[in-house]
Amino acid sequence: MLIGNRKDIPYSEVTPKNLYLNRRKFLSSAAAAGTAFLAGQPITDLLASPAQAGRGKKLEGIKKSSLSANEKINPFDDVTNYNNFYEFGTAKDEPAKYAKNFKTYPWTVKVEGEVNKPELFDIDTILKMAPLEERIYRLRCVEAWSVVIPWVGFSLSELIRRVEPTSKAKFVAFETFFDMKQMPRARFAGIPFPYVEGLRMDEAMHPLTLLCVGMYGEALPNQDGAPVRIVVPWKYGFKSIKSIVKIRFQEKQPPTTWGLSAPNEYGFYSNVNPNVDHPRWSQATERRLGEFFKRKTLPFNGYADQVAQLYSGMDLKKYY
Ligand code: MTE
Repeated sequence: MLIGNRKDIPYSEVTPKNLYLNRRKFLSSAAAAGTAFLAGQPITDLLASPAQAGRGKKLEGIKKSSLSANEKINPFDDVTNYNNFYEFGTAKDEPAKYAKNFKTYPWTVKVEGEVNKPELFDIDTILKMAPLEERIYRLRCVEAWSVVIPWVGFSLSELIRRVEPTSKAKFVAFETFFDMKQMPRARFAGIPFPYVEGLRMDEAMHPLTLLCVGMYGEALPNQDGAPVRIVVPWKYGFKSIKSIVKIRFQEKQPPTTWGLSAPNEYGFYSNVNPNVDHPRWSQATERRLGEFFKRKTLPFNGYADQVAQLYSGMDLKKYY
């Protein structure tokens, strides 16, 4: 996976070698074609001159949530100009630029598989499915940066209950929308699309797992996963899949995009764990966006009291 701050860890050190070599091939051909291409732009450059991000539609009737973290929130412009959304480019400032015209309405999410009531939900139905809550959560990326965002949504369990999973539903598989015409930069990302992710059923049902439709009181900006994504605050950011079009309940553990790309580096669980390093760099500390000094990374990203029991008896070095 790419890293945002070239001064900390070079890109080649954090990106799986096969992907790095693929991208190097692309970069040299892009340079040959005279194309300007930004990769691994330093955090400070991006924050100093953020492109004015377009503001989304205001969401009404949002309640505060008791599940919120009591932490300083990162500013909207920083969060929305420093993204990972490989369908729209691999540099942190590219999703804000290249997802501008992404069509996110009308939008449907197909819910299928091991359920009694499969359904095609449109986004308006999802927005009215449960009272919207503001949840201030940390998001900690495996690249060792973190942000605090006032997300808007409700527990994914609200949707899951509606479709009545059968006893065979042990895992939930998620899939992102994919269209090369709208996402031409995906060609150079070096990972397979559509982007897919998965959770174990008890993780998906956990109240902290958020079906997210907004941030900062507004509809989600395109670059942050409009119109609907999940946010799983105790797992590395790549588990929080964006712009979801399909949710499938199944007996078997589903494949994940980063697991398919580099299975020895990205496990299915991917719980934030300062004691289990990524094979090529430490996970012990992180840099909060906009801060200079690093801070210690907390087990389960600080949510251990709420979620550690989901993994009792599991060797978290083996199930990373
Ligand atoms: N979802 C899709 N479809 N494509 C992606 O490239 N990147 C993941 C995750 N969800 C990604 C994705 C990663 S690596 C991170 S850190 C978070 O989105 C970033 O979310 P943010 O840009 O809203 O901060």
